[in-house]
Amino acid sequence: MDEIFYVTNLRCEYLTNPMGIEVAIPRLSWLIRSERRGAMQTAYQLLVEDADTGVVMWNSEKILSDQATHIEYAGKPLQSRQRVDWKVRVWDEFDNPAEWSEFAWWEMGLLDELDWKAGWIGASLVGGPRTTSPCPFLRKEFNLTGMDYPCDQADPRDAAEVEASGLGHALNPVVKKARLYITALGLYEVYLNGQRVGDDVLNPGWTDFRKRVRYRVYDVTEMLSPAANALGVILGDGWYCGNLEWRGRQFYGDRPKLLAQLLVEFRDGTKKCVVTDGTWKTSFGPILESDLLMGESYDARLEFQGWDQPGFVDEAWRTVENFPDPGVARVATNGPTVKRIQELHPVADPVEIQGWPSSKWIYDFGQNLVGHVCMKVSGPAGITITLLHGEIKNPDGTLYTANLRTARQTDYYTLKGEGEEIFEPRFTFHGFRYVEVSGFPGKPDRDLLTGVVVHSAIPPTGSFECSDPLVNQLQHNILWGQKGNFVDVPTDCPQRDERLGWTGDAQVFIRTATFNMDVAGFYTKWQQDLADAQHEIGAVPAIAPNTNATMMNDGGPAWADAVVICPWTIYLIYGDKRLLETHYNSLKRFVDFLSKSSRNLIRAGSDHPPTETLEWLWEGFGDWLAQDGSGKVYGGTPKDLIGTAFFAYSTRLLGQIASALGKTDDARKYDDLYQSVRKAFIHRFTTNDGLVIGQTQTAYVLALHFDLLPDELRPQVVRALVRDIESRKMHLSTGFVGTPYLPYVLTREGHLDVAYALLFQKSWPSWLYSVTQGATTIWERWDGWTHDKGFQDPGMNSFNHYAYGSIGAWLYAVVAGIDADIEKPGFKHILLRPRPGGGLTYARAAYDSIQGRIESGWRIENDRLTWNVTVPPNTTATAYIPVGSGLSVLEGGKPIGQVEGVSFTTRDDNEVVCELKSGKYQFTVEPFSIKL
Ligand code: BGC
Repeated sequence: MDEIFYVTNLRCEYLTNPMGIEVAIPRLSWLIRSERRGAMQTAYQLLVEDADTGVVMWNSEKILSDQATHIEYAGKPLQSRQRVDWKVRVWDEFDNPAEWSEFAWWEMGLLDELDWKAGWIGASLVGGPRTTSPCPFLRKEFNLTGMDYPCDQADPRDAAEVEASGLGHALNPVVKKARLYITALGLYEVYLNGQRVGDDVLNPGWTDFRKRVRYRVYDVTEMLSPAANALGVILGDGWYCGNLEWRGRQFYGDRPKLLAQLLVEFRDGTKKCVVTDGTWKTSFGPILESDLLMGESYDARLEFQGWDQPGFVDEAWRTVENFPDPGVARVATNGPTVKRIQELHPVADPVEIQGWPSSKWIYDFGQNLVGHVCMKVSGPAGITITLLHGEIKNPDGTLYTANLRTARQTDYYTLKGEGEEIFEPRFTFHGFRYVEVSGFPGKPDRDLLTGVVVHSAIPPTGSFECSDPLVNQLQHNILWGQKGNFVDVPTDCPQRDERLGWTGDAQVFIRTATFNMDVAGFYTKWQQDLADAQHEIGAVPAIAPNTNATMMNDGGPAWADAVVICPWTIYLIYGDKRLLETHYNSLKRFVDFLSKSSRNLIRAGSDHPPTETLEWLWEGFGDWLAQDGSGKVYGGTPKDLIGTAFFAYSTRLLGQIASALGKTDDARKYDDLYQSVRKAFIHRFTTNDGLVIGQTQTAYVLALHFDLLPDELRPQVVRALVRDIESRKMHLSTGFVGTPYLPYVLTREGHLDVAYALLFQKSWPSWLYSVTQGATTIWERWDGWTHDKGFQDPGMNSFNHYAYGSIGAWLYAVVAGIDADIEKPGFKHILLRPRPGGGLTYARAAYDSIQGRIESGWRIENDRLTWNVTVPPNTTATAYIPVGSGLSVLEGGKPIGQVEGVSFTTRDDNEVVCELKSGKYQFTVEPFSIKL
C-alpha cells in the first residue's frame, strides 16, 4: 500500500501566491495527496511569518479538524503591502503528522485609501460618441541614483558616509523590492525599461466604473535599473469609453485615464515613490484606434523606438492632463485576470476569394475562438492589410458577418517596410473561426497568421469523454463556449455588438461552468458586479455590470434570479460561505423585492398594474428562444408561471442559505414564504387534471424540478412531459430557461431513456444538431442555420453562446456520475452515481474539485460493467453502483462486503448503494444489462 501522505497546492483566496490581497482575513486552502484508502486529515497546524522580518504572525498550533479549505487567517492584523510566508502540516487518520509543506506566500494590497499617492492622468480629448480616437502613450523617466532623498525624508547618513558616497546628498541605493500598483479607467499595458510588466491582457477588465475599478500589483524589483529608468503605459478605450453594446462610445467616460504608483524600497530602509502626476508626458502613436468591438488600426510607420526606455527624446510629447479623482472604489484584483491562453494555427492553406482591386484570402482556424490573430508579415511601407474576423462562412465560401451587427471586428495594419513585422492588436478581441485577409501583396502563406486565444485565466478542472464522438464534440463545444465567453465577465456572446454580462445566461450555465474550470474567483468577482448593479429597491437587472441596455432595473424571472442561484452554486461546489455572507443582504433585498412586487405571490404577471415602487412592469424574457411552436422569441410558457416558479426557487435557496449561515429566524421566514409561493403556484397554474397551465415542456420541467406540485399530481405532469416529447418525435422544445433542468427531471422521474433520446437527437431542436453541422462552439439558437431556411435572423444569431451548453453538467453528473452533495458542500462528501444508457459503451469524467481529483469511469464489455472511481483524500463518497440485473458485484475482485474502505448499505433493483472512504476503487458487475 502506498503510504505517501503529504500536503500540496497551498492557496490563499483561491490563488497560488497572490499579490495584492485586500481582504482583512484571507482564507487558506490546501490539498492532501495520498493513494491510501481512508486517508484523512484529523488535524492541522499553520505557521505564518512576516516575509521580511521572520516575525511569527500566526502559529495556530495543532487544531483538531478535517477542514482543509477556507481556513480563516487568525494571526496578528495584516498591514498594507505586508508579505507573509506560510506553511502547513497535517495529521493523518492515525494522528501521524505529515511533513511540513513547502512555504507559500501572499502579499497584501493597499488597504488604506491614504496609501494612494498617485493622481489620475491622461491625454487630451480626441473623438466623440461616434468617432474614433487613437491610443495615448504615456511615459515618465526617473532616476534611482543621483536623486535627492525622496518622500521628504532627511538623509539619515552621517556626514562621513555622505562624503564617502561621492554623491553628496544624492543616493546610490540598492533596491530591496519594488511594486507597481496600477489601474486605468479604460485599458492599459505597462512597460518598464522596455520590458512588458506582467502578462495580463485587457487590464483592468470590466467593472461598473461608476462604482469601482480594480488595480493590479506587480513585482518589478528585477526590472529596475540602478540608474535611469522609464515607465511607459499605453492606454486603450476598452469598456470604459470604447464602443459598448450598440450604444456607441463613451458610456462611462470620454477618454481613458491612468493611475499608477511605483513604490521602491531600498536596502537602507528608505523608500521612493514614482506616481502618475503632471510630470508625465504623452503622445499619440501608431495605434490609431483600438476598440473592443471594432478592432485595432495600427500604422507601424508612426512607431517611436525606445519610448518606454530611458533616454528617449520626448520633447515633442505633451504634458499629460490631470483629472480629479472620480471617487470610485479602488479595489485589488483578487481573482483571475485575462491572459493569452493558447495559440492555434490555420488548419489549411488560405482560400482565395477573387475580389477587386485584389483577392481576399480566407484563413480557417478550425475552431470558433475568442481573441485575436498575430500576423508576421513583410512588405513595402505604407501597405495596409485588413483582417476581418467572422464565425462562419456563407454557402458560397465568403465570410458571413451579418450577425456581427455593428461590431466591425476588423484590424488594419499598415506596414513600415522594415523586414519582418509582427502585429498583434492590444485592446480588442474578436469572436471568430475565419479571418479574411485583404490588401495583401501577392499570395499569403498559411503561417501569416496565428490565432491567439484570450480569456480569463481560470484553471481547467474537468474532462468528460464517452463512446459517442458527437457527444464528445458537444463537450468540446461547451468548453470552447465557456472559454470565449469568460472574458472577465460571463457574457452572452463574444462577437456581435453585445458581449454583455447577461444574468440569465450566466445563471443557466454556472453549474456546467464549475465542472469545466475553477470558476470560484471568477464568479466571486461577478457577484460583486451583480451587487453593484442591484437597484435600490432590490431589483436585479438583466445585465451586470449594468449598462442600462434594457432600460430595466428588473431583469425578470430566471435572469435576475442569478443573484441567488450563482452564489448558491459556488457554495455547493466550493463550500464558500463567505460569498454568501458578503452578499446576504443583497440576496435578501432581492427576494423581498419579489415579495413586494408580486401580486398574491404571483410574480411578473402580465395583469400587474404599476406599483408605487415600480414605474413599469417587466415580465422577463420568458423561456428565451424556445422552439415550442409559439413562434415567439419568448416562447409559449406563461411568463408569470416562470416568474412564480423562480420566485419560489430563489426564496427556497435563500432559506437554505440563511440556514447555512446560522440565521435561523430568516431560514424559517424564507422557508415559510417558499411554502406560500408554492401554494400560490399550485393554485394558479395546475388544473384538476394535473396539467400545468401553458402545457409546454418548460412549464412541466419547472414545476417538477422546483418541487412545485403536490405529490399526487407529479406522475400526471411527468406523463404529460414525456407525451409532449414523444409527440415531437423525441425533440425538446425548451428555451434557455427549461433546457438545463429537462434532462435532470427526466432522469429523476424514471425516464432516463427519454433523456438519452434527447441527447442523441440529431435534428433540430437538439444539442447534437449544431454538432452535425460542424459547430465548434454552442449556438445561440437551436436553428442558427438550417438546410431549409439558411441563417436565422442576423439580428440575433450568435454561433458562440454558452446557454444551451448547460447540458454539460448532466454529462458529468449523470452520464459519468460525479455530483456534489449539499449536505457537505465543497465535495467534502461526493455523490457518485453514473447512469449508463443510450447505447454508450463507456463514459468517464475527471474533476479537480477543491478537495482534489475525483474520477468516475465506466465501461460495458461482454456483459460486464467495470466502474473505476477515485475519491480524493480527506473526503468520503456515496457510490451508487449501477448493477441492473447483475448477480456478482465485486470490488478489486472481492465481494464488496469484504473490502477495505467500502461499507455496504442497500440494494434495490438497479443499484447497490455503499459508502466509500477516500481511495481508488474498481467495481465490476456481471452479468450486466441495463434496465431502462
Ligand atoms: C442575449 C441573450 C440574453 C437575451 C435576453 C440576447 O440579446 O444575447 O443571451 O439573455 O438577449 O433575452
